[in-house]
Amino acid sequence: MASFEICGGRSLQGDVKIQGSKNAVLPILAATVLNKGITKLYNCPEILDVYNMIKILESIGCIVEVDGNTVTVDATDTISGVVSLDYVASIRSSIILLGAILGRTRSVEIPYPGGCVIGERPIDMHLKALEQMNVSISEADGIIRCETKALMGGTINLAYPSVGATENIILAATLAKGSTEINNAAKEPEIVDLCLLLNEMGADIHGMGTAHIIVHGVKRLHDARYTIMADRIVAGTYLAAAAVTCGSIQVYDVREHDIKSILQVFAHMGCGIVIRNKRIRLIAPQILLPVESIRTRPFPGFPTDMQSQLLACLCMAKGQSIIYEDIFEDRFKAVEELGKMGANIRIDKNKAIINGVPKLHGATVKAKELRGGAALIIAGLTVEGDAKIENSIYVERGYQDICDDLSGLGACIRIVEDR
Ligand code: UD1
Repeated sequence: MASFEICGGRSLQGDVKIQGSKNAVLPILAATVLNKGITKLYNCPEILDVYNMIKILESIGCIVEVDGNTVTVDATDTISGVVSLDYVASIRSSIILLGAILGRTRSVEIPYPGGCVIGERPIDMHLKALEQMNVSISEADGIIRCETKALMGGTINLAYPSVGATENIILAATLAKGSTEINNAAKEPEIVDLCLLLNEMGADIHGMGTAHIIVHGVKRLHDARYTIMADRIVAGTYLAAAAVTCGSIQVYDVREHDIKSILQVFAHMGCGIVIRNKRIRLIAPQILLPVESIRTRPFPGFPTDMQSQLLACLCMAKGQSIIYEDIFEDRFKAVEELGKMGANIRIDKNKAIINGVPKLHGATVKAKELRGGAALIIAGLTVEGDAKIENSIYVERGYQDICDDLSGLGACIRIVEDR
């Protein structure tokens, strides 16, 4: 295992280009299975989740070539509908393959993904929607078996705008017979990215980015090239790091529309925000103002994937802040570790009450999941002295170059292998 070592107390300054989006590239890689041909993807982040998804694609019969940030998937040959447990265990979002493989082979066997450290993460909405599309589903010994003679369009009313369920329905509907209407669809920018790629491949999808998506099934897709959108959560993480270190940084290649709710919160905390095209500058105040009350919400609300990083910033705001986590039930994993650095946070069910302190101090802490780990790095950048964040691997699951990027902005951070 490896750890991050940080020598804190440096203010972040400069410009940083934002990597391709993890949450966009994963369903997009799944989508490549629908094309009996070649799909070339640019700006893919070089992260563990992407490599694991590529391993799954190879295991079911795709030929994948990786050249830095460019990934070429050749799905011309026969695709197997059987996904092995080895791979599914390594990447929870492999459930997104259900819709894509069904569209291609009409039958899938995939191990049930199970819960994860941020909560149970059920998939009932995915399965119910697929049943409505003429798929018969059975579960035995932890394996989900899905079969269909023909995927059929229809009207699907989601009880909640689940990102994964919306993506699975879109993937299944692309080659289905007839049209599929999704009501209460998730509006996340990553879903728009998936639909733009599919349309580039010859799909006929409308309304992405709204709660009402229509997919007119087409007979086949064709080869395409596509550039993955920038990762709005990585951008938000770096802006948070600048906010908490009295810094001034510019992130580029990110669309304002995608991170508006994040920018609004930082502005409320006293940060100056300057936007020019796809360049966003944050200028931090000497002391951050608290946030009276904020709730995580589906897009365009404040993202749950930025909750931990915001929480780390608020540890040093001038006064009391409250964050409600409304999406995942167990997403305050970083709180105990932040406490070891001197933060004053109390958890009451889905509510975090944060009383700002003037400074955090160095400590050795453990990352337990991706965004919580990023929050610990943000806190570590502020400490007087040294901080060590163990289990860097969790953070590397989603951040391609966090050490290089933050070092480039003036931070003193490195990865060391544990002895
Ligand atoms: C995706 C993102 C994740 C982000 C989340 C919310 C990817 C790879 N992951 O996860 O980073 O935090 O969106 O923005 O894109 N739910 C059900 N039944 C279902 C499906 C979901 O009850 O069938 C619940 C979940 O437990 C959760 C909520 O709905 O409470 C939102 O989940 P969902 O939007 O589906 O998140 P994911 O797609 O898993």
